[in-house]
Amino acid sequence: MNSQKEIKPALRTENITYAVRDIVVLANQVAKSGKEMLYLNIGDPNLFDFVTPRHIIDTTFKAMLENKNGYAPSSGISEAVKAIEAEADRKNISSVQDIFVTTGASEAIDICLTALVNEGENILTPTPGYPLYTAIASKLRTMENPYYLDESNGWQPDVDDMKNKINKDTRGIILINPNNPTGSLYKSDTLQKIIDLALENDLIIFADEIYDKLLFDGKNHISVASLNKDASCITFGGLSKNYFVPGFRIGWGIVSGNQSVLKNYIEAINKILRARLSANHPEQYAIKTALEGDQSHLTEAKKKLTARRDITVLMLNSIPGISCVKPEGAFYAFPRLHMDQSDSHFVSELIKETGVVVVPGSGFGQVPGTQHFRVVFLPNEQTLEKAYENIGIFYKKYLEKYTKADVVK
Ligand SMILES: Cc1ncc(COP(=O)(O)O)c(C=O)c1O
Repeated sequence: MNSQKEIKPALRTENITYAVRDIVVLANQVAKSGKEMLYLNIGDPNLFDFVTPRHIIDTTFKAMLENKNGYAPSSGISEAVKAIEAEADRKNISSVQDIFVTTGASEAIDICLTALVNEGENILTPTPGYPLYTAIASKLRTMENPYYLDESNGWQPDVDDMKNKINKDTRGIILINPNNPTGSLYKSDTLQKIIDLALENDLIIFADEIYDKLLFDGKNHISVASLNKDASCITFGGLSKNYFVPGFRIGWGIVSGNQSVLKNYIEAINKILRARLSANHPEQYAIKTALEGDQSHLTEAKKKLTARRDITVLMLNSIPGISCVKPEGAFYAFPRLHMDQSDSHFVSELIKETGVVVVPGSGFGQVPGTQHFRVVFLPNEQTLEKAYENIGIFYKKYLEKYTKADVVK
């Protein structure tokens, strides 16, 4: 007989959701019924026609053959750290105080937030934004402090909203640029205003720039840390998206600003880095090769993504009741559904009816009363066209079925 009591999970896990993967449960059920599925939900380039450049694989393989398979130094191998330092220099980040290699940018984000906030404190978090940040905040039992991105201004951060939401317990500001889920790229004057706010309020800026090389229309990326050498910033980057190796799990953090302001915080980060031993070792040899080797895969990728972005914007904007701001980077769009129903209901019905899988806007946060969904435009043109055609046909019927009097929240 089993007399053991039920094992209760920690309260800190209660509010953790990750809409991007949560939706897969429903998609899998629908797929089992034999329906043709069109997946526009996962930001993994390798699931589509984006292939890891050969020289990145060769370097990693060579490192493995050379038995570089033990633990690495906790901050990363020196060759990689030096390559990231040179990358920081190319990004015009001048006052670098520390660099560390992590298991994806995800781990850098987790460690840096963990080393900073106490229970009850808060960090300004972009809304909509990447759900990892709210999941970590939930784990750390910090208070939610969402600031809005302004859809009417190309999804730039609403700096006035940010300003109004700073309180005595605010410790930092998260920026995702280029942005997931909106694909927006932040302008220099917006970034400058955010730096002023951070300096006035002793806040650290966490700049998630994981998509900084995937930009369209000849746009240039501006690193917030490059705009003021005194601002305390941690710039997150990694190989996952720019170099098509999300499964390598290689990311990093670049700490910049004033040494005297940052020294205790840097030591706290390094304590955690040491306690978790090291990031993946052989894959760290790919960092220098990736950052300094042939970049031609990027030219090809940007060409493909520009065509796919254009189809996305054109076709979605041609559907009555949907509007879509043009993404300038990454591979996401965040179209708005002009309706009263909840976007989670819309997305569940869409998946069941058409097999098109997207993620509801509520999974990323949004201005209350607005409804969106996120599309990943990594799939090829034919798949995207078919998916958007299906969405158009479905949405018309959906709106006819659910009138204002019959709102599903
Ligand atoms: C904004 C953002 N930051 C970080 C990550 C995670 O990056 P990594 O694979 O380096 O952990 C993602 C992945 O989708 C992302 O969209």
